[in-house]
Amino acid sequence: MERLTSPPRLMIVSDLDHTMVDHHDPENLSLLRFNSLWEHAYRHDSFLVFSTGRSPTLYKELRKEKPLLTPDITIMSVGTEITYGNSMVPDHGWVDTLNHKWDLGIVKEEACKFSELKLQAETEQRPHKVSFYVDKSKAQEVTKELSQRFEKRGLDVKIIYSGGMDLDILPQGAGKGQALAYLLKKLKTEGKLPVNTLACGDSGNDAELFSIPDVYGVMVSNAQEELLKWHAENAIDNPKVIHAKERCASGIIEAIGHFKLGPNLSPRDVSDFLECKTENVNPGHEVVKFFLFYERWRRGEVENCEAYTASLKASCHPSGVFVHPSGAEKSLRDTIDELRKYHGDKQGKKFRVWADQVLATDTTPGTWIVKLDKWEQSGEERRCCTTTVKFTSKEGEGLVWEHVQQTWSKESEVKDDSSWII
Ligand code: GLC
Ligand code: MG
Repeated sequence: MERLTSPPRLMIVSDLDHTMVDHHDPENLSLLRFNSLWEHAYRHDSFLVFSTGRSPTLYKELRKEKPLLTPDITIMSVGTEITYGNSMVPDHGWVDTLNHKWDLGIVKEEACKFSELKLQAETEQRPHKVSFYVDKSKAQEVTKELSQRFEKRGLDVKIIYSGGMDLDILPQGAGKGQALAYLLKKLKTEGKLPVNTLACGDSGNDAELFSIPDVYGVMVSNAQEELLKWHAENAIDNPKVIHAKERCASGIIEAIGHFKLGPNLSPRDVSDFLECKTENVNPGHEVVKFFLFYERWRRGEVENCEAYTASLKASCHPSGVFVHPSGAEKSLRDTIDELRKYHGDKQGKKFRVWADQVLATDTTPGTWIVKLDKWEQSGEERRCCTTTVKFTSKEGEGLVWEHVQQTWSKESEVKDDSSWII
């Protein structure tokens, strides 16, 4: 969170399964649309927060399956675990507050007496979260009886039903909403209260997010029955919460537009961005657009015309160098020339490219360094290179690519130099 010295312009707090991630979209198109928008327009001055019911184990699994960006803050296990930054430093202060009237042993002992409850996987049982599966038809009755038993035993717990099947038992002070309230308070004391906050969700455990004051909310179009019911009973008059027309991450983009929280045009929605040269110099934009072009080029979705490569070459310094992750050094212009022979080589294949953590710094006047993680998925294989681009710009002229360097990222499962172009 030290990355920003002033309040973030926007903080998005989003659930993952069926909200940020559409499990019915094998192409991950809405997620990729969101990713490009975030890196293009928000990364540098905003906060991205994931708030999931998943434990750290299952969260990490999802990161391997889906093209998820790296969030600034990760809230896991239904608001019972908060971590910061890439290295996921835990918030111990938050954990301490959760012990009030909570006893894991008693919770398990009482809950296990219900034959209707089926214990979830061991990874999903956490210090402040005990989780079961229960049939929709039994959920209400079981919840009521469980609450009475816990009360008798002196505990103060919260029982949440989600996705028409998951039942979580948490300390009363936990949950996604309480975790968000805690985070907002913490940010405020640090002088970093976001100008706007948008909460995004689809199921029962997200309901709390929509009752935190001053927070905008979007229930994606595919929201679960239990969330829509909660909304109808508790928040129908709140104009700050909408039920989007679009599914998952596209619903989030829709909400950004609806509440006028900032730009809502994803670079992925622009078909010919080499044409639309922006007047204001923005090196981060340049990089996001280039890698999107690179994806479309290899997928054969842009025409194989000389104009594109010529325009790219023109924006590279004649003696600009590209350091390939293998360590080999090439001329930047030659690298663009080489790109020609790869036009459409991934046509009809699973091939996607996305940029993560795009951050630009201006070192000396007229010089920028852009750092990012460039991900490439080809078939089932995913590779990632930490990429550094140096740009220069002269008064009134466009940006010039001076130097590009790539090294294999620690997160890259495969570190195979062959067939890696840029
Ligand atoms: C995630 C968790 C699960 C929890 C559910 C609803 O699927 O893995 O343990 O019950 O979210 O909160
Ligand atoms: Mg969900």
